[in-house]
Amino acid sequence: MRRIRRRILQPLLRETELHKTDLVMPVFVDESISRPLAIPSMPGQFRRPVEGVADYCEHLRDAGIGAVILFGIPAEKDSEATGAYAPDGVIQQAVRSIKERLPGMVVVTDVCACEYTDHGHCGIIGETAGGPDLENDLSLALMARIALSHAESGADIVAPSCMLDGMVQTIREALDAAGYQDVLIMSYSSKFASALYGPFRDAADSGFSLGDRTTYQISPGNAREAIMESELDAAEGADILMVKPAGIYLDILASLTGFGLPVAAYQVSGEYAMIRAAGERGWLDARAVALESLTAIKRAGADLIITYFAEDAARWLDEEQ
Ligand code: PBG
Ligand code: ZN
Repeated sequence: MRRIRRRILQPLLRETELHKTDLVMPVFVDESISRPLAIPSMPGQFRRPVEGVADYCEHLRDAGIGAVILFGIPAEKDSEATGAYAPDGVIQQAVRSIKERLPGMVVVTDVCACEYTDHGHCGIIGETAGGPDLENDLSLALMARIALSHAESGADIVAPSCMLDGMVQTIREALDAAGYQDVLIMSYSSKFASALYGPFRDAADSGFSLGDRTTYQISPGNAREAIMESELDAAEGADILMVKPAGIYLDILASLTGFGLPVAAYQVSGEYAMIRAAGERGWLDARAVALESLTAIKRAGADLIITYFAEDAARWLDEEQ
């Protein structure tokens, strides 16, 4: 085996190569700020004001990143997430301003209610068989409404992350009925109830006041259930499947490549924070570990990777050329 690792042969025989075009940068847009605000639990990441988001995307584009996924932090929340579908809501404004400036940038929007509800859950809370909890079918109409408002604003891809049964079909029907046949659905199809979302809840101000998310997100040990979730979303018309988190769920990611649809992996806030924190302490080389983790995610089968390292990785990949 040593022969095939001779230095001059390494580029020729490399099986997996990470490209800037594989990466999607998450962008937090905060309706209440007028300059970028650092996110303490995610060093190097910022909430951005609506007015600054097109500039930032232009900077990403110049660095070679061609896709963003947007998360909104509204000025006000309520029990029904009305801010999530308001025509002049934070995401709607952000999408319009990016698409106006950069029509070639792929804009993905997160379709969920948790940043817009005062209780912090991903939809409407009601009385269920198990007590107060996320109401499935009542919340579906809300998701259709949110997705439609994102499409009307110019989103290329809507990404429902609420883990409701039937979300993909409901959104597909709503988009088609309104003439948005070309808008894709990237489903957060295999989304685990992970403690690795901790820093995100700071970043997007989406902590919850009652219960937890285990009645809608998948338990970390359940592989068959996770694959079934993606299978159902594929049958409902998802265009892209997703595994989230990425790095410690590569077995699930590898299984999803069998459906024939593109597969996305979301390297989440906690994965980012762990690498950054250890890097800051000098315990490891954050740049090397970040690139290694992204390469491993691609090797396991991801066609695209949502990662907070996207902006930095673009520069690092340039430097390695
Ligand atoms: C909203 C959403 C979450 C993330 C993406 N979309 C939080 C959650 O489900 O609790 C997590 C992203 C991250 O941790 O980077 N449903
Ligand atoms: Zn949510």
